[in-house]
Amino acid sequence: MAKAVGKSNKKNGLREQTRLVRGGLRRSSFAETSEAIFMNSGYVYASAEEASGAFAGKNDHFIYSRFSNPTVSMFEDRLAQLEGAEACRATATGMAAVFASLACQLRAGDRVVASRALFGSCLYVVQDQLPRWGIETVLVDGRDLKQWKAALSKKTKVVFFESPSNPTLEIVDIAAVSKLAHKAGARVVVDNVFSSPVLQKPLQLGADIVVYSATKHIDGQGRAMGGAILGSRDYIDTDLTPFLRHTGPALSPFNAWVLVKSLETLELRMARHCDSAEQVAEFLATHPKIASVAYPTRKDHPQRALAKKQMSGGGNVVTFAIKGGQKAAFKFLNKLALVDISNNLGDSKSLITHPATTTHQRLPAETRKLYGIGDDMLRLSVGLEDVADLIDDLAQALA
Ligand SMILES: Cc1ncc(COP(=O)(O)O)c(C=O)c1O
Repeated sequence: MAKAVGKSNKKNGLREQTRLVRGGLRRSSFAETSEAIFMNSGYVYASAEEASGAFAGKNDHFIYSRFSNPTVSMFEDRLAQLEGAEACRATATGMAAVFASLACQLRAGDRVVASRALFGSCLYVVQDQLPRWGIETVLVDGRDLKQWKAALSKKTKVVFFESPSNPTLEIVDIAAVSKLAHKAGARVVVDNVFSSPVLQKPLQLGADIVVYSATKHIDGQGRAMGGAILGSRDYIDTDLTPFLRHTGPALSPFNAWVLVKSLETLELRMARHCDSAEQVAEFLATHPKIASVAYPTRKDHPQRALAKKQMSGGGNVVTFAIKGGQKAAFKFLNKLALVDISNNLGDSKSLITHPATTTHQRLPAETRKLYGIGDDMLRLSVGLEDVADLIDDLAQALA
C-alpha cells in the first residue's frame, strides 16, 4: 500500500465520533482543512529507479488508482478505524465488495455455508455464480443454530450472512455462528449493510470479514455508489488486495471523497434514523390495515433479545405486511405523496419498495414464500424528514 500524503493524524484512543470526523485524514502540502479529492488515475516518479522500486514494493508510492489512491485511502482508513478492523479496501459498489470478499479466497472444491435470507444479488452470487466454479454452497435458515451446526459439521471455507437480513429483518447470532464456523475451519463474512458500522460491530462478535454497500447509510444521501471490505491485515494483503488490483473494481476518488465526508455525520444520522424508524414501526403496528410489522429491537420481534445483544439500535428499515395482499400494497404505494417508491435504502429521503416485485422478483414464487417474502410485504427505509410528516403520509395513504 502506498504512503500517506502529508502527515497522518491517526491517533489512538479517540472516541468514535471524533474518529468519524478525523480518522485517516491526510493533508497535502497545501494544508487544506477538508479532505482533498485526488482525481487522478496515475502518479509520477522522480526517477526510473523510483518507478522500478515502487513496482517492486521497495518504496511507498502510489502507482495507479486501480491499485490505490490518496482520497480512497482516507475513506478506507477512516472506516477501518470506525469498524476496529486492521485494514479496509474500498470498491465501486456493495456488490463488488460482496463478490470480491468471497471470490478472492475461494477455489474449486471449496464449500460455502450461507444464510438463505440474503439480498437478491447476494443470493445470485452464492447460489448461481459460485457453483459454476465448482464451489459447493449450502443455504440454511440463518435464525436456526441447529441448521448452522448441521451444515458446519463438514470442513467449510467461508460462512456468509446478512444480519439483519434484507428485507425480512431476520437476525443471525454472529457470535454463536462464528464459533461453529471456526470449528469447521471457515472464515465468517458478514454483510453488515442493514446495521451500518455504527450500530453493529461483527468483528468484535467473532466474525472475520465485514462487507458494506457504502451506497446505503454511509453515503446516506442517495448520491454515490460504493462498497468496502474490512478484515485482518493478512486477509486484506494476501487474499484481497492482489484480487482487487488485477480485476479492477476500484472506487472512484470522487465517490471516495463523498463517502469520507459522509462518515463525519454517520453517527448523527443513524441515531435519528433509528429514532424515527421506531416511531414509524409503532404507528404501523397499531394501524388496523396493517397485518404485521418487523423491526429488530421492537418487543414483538421474535429475535428481539438477540438483536439487542448485538446491535445498539434497530436501524432505519421497517418491514410490514398490509392487509389485502399485493393489490392493497400497490394501492398504498401509489397513494404515498412524500415517501418515494424506490428500491434503494439508507437515504435521507424515505423510500419504500415492494420486495416481491422488485429486489426479490428473480426468485420463484415458492422460494419467496419459503423465505417469508410475501406479496403483501413492503420494505420502508425511514429517512431523515420530520417523522410527523412521514406518519401523516403513511396515514393518508392507508386511509
Ligand atoms: C444487504 C445488501 N448487500 C449488498 C447490497 C449491494 O450494494 P450495491 O447496490 O451498492 O452494490 C445491497 C443493496 O441493496 C444490500 O441491501
